[in-house]
Amino acid sequence: MPPDTTTNSLHAVPPSGKQGPRPASSAALAHGSAAVRAEIAAGLAARQAEVSPKFLYDALGSRLFEAICELPEYYPTRTEAAIFAAHGEAMARAIGPGSTLIDLGAGHCAKAAKLFTRLQPAQYVAIDISADFLRESIDSLQQRFPAIDMLGLGLDFSSSLDLPASVREERRVFFYPGSSIGNFTPEQACAFLRRARAQCGDDGALLIGIDLVKDSELLDAAYDDAIGVTAAFNLNLLRHLNHLAGADFDVRQWRHRGRFNAAESRIEMHLEARHDLTVTWQGGQRDFDAGERIHTENSYKYRQSAAVGLLEQSGFQAREVWTDPHGWFAVIYAHAIGA
Ligand code: AVI
Repeated sequence: MPPDTTTNSLHAVPPSGKQGPRPASSAALAHGSAAVRAEIAAGLAARQAEVSPKFLYDALGSRLFEAICELPEYYPTRTEAAIFAAHGEAMARAIGPGSTLIDLGAGHCAKAAKLFTRLQPAQYVAIDISADFLRESIDSLQQRFPAIDMLGLGLDFSSSLDLPASVREERRVFFYPGSSIGNFTPEQACAFLRRARAQCGDDGALLIGIDLVKDSELLDAAYDDAIGVTAAFNLNLLRHLNHLAGADFDVRQWRHRGRFNAAESRIEMHLEARHDLTVTWQGGQRDFDAGERIHTENSYKYRQSAAVGLLEQSGFQAREVWTDPHGWFAVIYAHAIGA
């Protein structure tokens, strides 16, 4: 879900709060906690202004992300789905029945649910930032799969991953699809995966989806689509900041930028000021020159060997790598290795 250089967070998180109308008096109306306001203020005041991508996902942002996943340009969702469809049987064989399947950032639990019939896990643990959001999905899944013990946990696993005793210890398999790992820097990704490694025994494993490096034109189109859904997703962040930090961003004064930075092997999303302007927020203000940018998201793209290397550095050894015919996306099954 979505991290930047300062704070990691979930990727596509479910709506975490309602966004109210634009505040009439920005300083008087800020609905984020003091810590959230301080985090946003520090990012906006930084020499290179930046905002954590976790703030992309208010209620509207989460819906816009779902719309992105439907776009013809946004290949990751359908490519990964095709890999699961083509290799689901092999994945189930590799993992074997009776695992404890731990779904990180489960959302609607739809991706994991597609594996249940073949995989037959003993326990399914859905983790997302909002337990309330998970409840409905878990209830309906439990009816469809009564033999699987199911558990929903509301947890911001990006910062810590302490699992309660109700999670079985045997054969924990962490499921992390969607290339959300790409929204962390490689260092953050490694730290995150190590936390997962620490939560499984030597019989633990990881099933992860990772987006691969490809032609930059394809990448640019996926993050700057023709009808502007990704632009809306990025720009909506400003409305969310108005709500959280009492800022007075005028969305029309900004434009979306999404481009592949080959040197860093990542898509960078920015918001760029259309002309000279001033933004105020609770306790601060900044002048932006025309063309000046706020960095809102990174989405790292890995070469297959680098993805395997990242897992190895984090305590997992790749056993199987499944890709699509174009080699655009990889789903990797990796075993825990000694610490
Ligand atoms: C959630 N995450 C994996 C998406 C990605 O591709 O990095 C977020 C996204 N940002 C713009 N489009 C999609």
